[in-house]
Formats: sequence, structure tokens, C-alpha cells
Amino acid sequence: MSTDRIGVLGSGDVGRALGSGFARHGWDVAVGSRDPGKLHDWRDDVGGSVADDGSVSVGSFADAAAHGDVAVLAVRGAAALDALDLAGHDNFAGTLLLDTTNPLDFSGGMPPHLLFGGTDSLGERIQSALPDAHVVKCFNTVSNAQMVDPEFEEGTPPMFICGDDADAKGRTEDILVELGWPGTMDVGDIESARHLEALVPLWVRVGSVMDTSEHAFKAVQ
Ligand SMILES: NC(=O)c1ccc[n+]([C@@H]2O[C@H](COP(=O)([O-])OP(=O)(O)OC[C@H]3O[C@@H](n4cnc5c(N)ncnc54)[C@H](OP(=O)(O)O)[C@@H]3O)[C@@H](O)[C@H]2O)c1
Repeated sequence: MSTDRIGVLGSGDVGRALGSGFARHGWDVAVGSRDPGKLHDWRDDVGGSVADDGSVSVGSFADAAAHGDVAVLAVRGAAALDALDLAGHDNFAGTLLLDTTNPLDFSGGMPPHLLFGGTDSLGERIQSALPDAHVVKCFNTVSNAQMVDPEFEEGTPPMFICGDDADAKGRTEDILVELGWPGTMDVGDIESARHLEALVPLWVRVGSVMDTSEHAFKAVQ
């Protein structure tokens, strides 16, 4: 069986956590940045933890977007559409795009506010910009430190996801199970990104109350 390939657009904490995490799980990973050179030391550091059949390379956003039929968008929310332009929209045709982004405004300091929401979301804007891609909102409600091989003291909850394409969400669930999640909580089509993104300012405030960033939301009944 050939190694799964994934492109990760983003050089921040999320891009690095998912880049190294997928490689540890045997994926062939290409991480993208406007300035790939700043990832060279990181790539060399993670090299030792890569699975035998995995690998990590670094390049441009376009290199990452063209790398496989699965990609992760892990860039600053306010710059998400600019990053897609740099990556080249054609490179996402048929791609499962795992959208980690949140439209957060840190200009007033902590805690952040949403740049927009209610009747709009970044997930919807990204899906509209890339009509030939299958966007699944994913990872946006957990810390980068818990995205791969999560360990929550009270048990790992399913990952909240949403998106328009059922097959894409099914593949997302398979990927998450491979990364150590118990499964997904599918909350609907991409319009539901409004609600998953709106959870994040609450997630920040709850973390402040609990004095942690290693928490996640779980639905119980
Ligand atoms: N940090 C977390 O634990 C966490 C958890 C869940 C979701 N998220 C979300 O995940 C996304 C990534 O977060 P992060 O903490 O890893 O880092 P970040 O600082 O939000 O984003 C860093 C990335 O954004 C890109 N970027 C910044 N300005 C840009 C511009 N004008 N044009 C194009 N690209 C630009 C950077 O590109 P270069 O590589 O070229 O510098 C870099 O790759 C965010 O949307 C965040 O809300 C974060």
C-alpha cells in the first residue's frame, strides 16, 4: 500500500503539531509557508520521530496544496483566503481540506474576539472560495498540543467536525481515529462552522477559568 500524502499549509504551532504528528503516523507530509526556510531547523528536529514509512518536507503553500489529496489549512484566520490565493485554487480540486482556522481578532489583546460570525464563518468562506474542494472544519476547537495522540484526563471526546460532503467527513473520521481520536461528532454542513468557530472564544475563557489549555468540549446526555 502506498503511503498517504498530506499537505499542511501553515508554519505555526498547528502546522508543526500536525506536520510532525502525521509523519509519526507514517504519512508523507509537505508543510508549506511563505518562507519555507524558517521550517528547516524544525524539519531536521522532527526527522528522528518520523515513522519508517513517513517523511516530512517543507516548501511553499502551493507545494503543500499540490502534495496529496488531503490537505490541512493551518494559517492565521484573517489571512486564510490570502493563503489559499498563494497556494493556487486549482491545487485544491478534489482535495479533502481539513480546516483548522478560526477568525480571531487579537488586536484588543486576550481574550480574542471573533472577526465575524453569527450568519457567516471562515469555513463557509473557504468552501465558497474552493468549490471543487471538500472542506471539513476540524481541529479548530482543541489545542495544537492535543491534536495528535490526544490524552485528556477524563477521556478523549469525539472531535467536532462539519462539512458538506459525507464521504469527506467519513474519511476525516478515519484519519482522526488513526491519530488517536475516538471518532467525530458531525454537527452538520459547512454552515455549522459558524457554531464551531463561535465555540473558540468560549474555549479560551473556560481555559482561563480552569487554568489549562488542555481541555475540550464534550456533549453529554
Ligand atoms: N494554536 C492552536 O492551538 C490552535 C488550535 C486550534 C485552531 N487554531 C487555528 O489554527 C490556525 C493556525 O494557528 P497557529 O497557532 O498555528 O498559527 P497562526 O500564527 O495563527 O498562523 C501562522 C500561519 O499563518 C500564516 N500567515 C500569517 N499571516 C499571513 C498572511 N498575511 N498571508 C498568508 N499567510 C499568513 C503564516 O504564514 P508563514 O508560514 O508564511 O509565516 C503561518 O503559516 C489559526 O487559524 C488558529 O485560530 C489554533
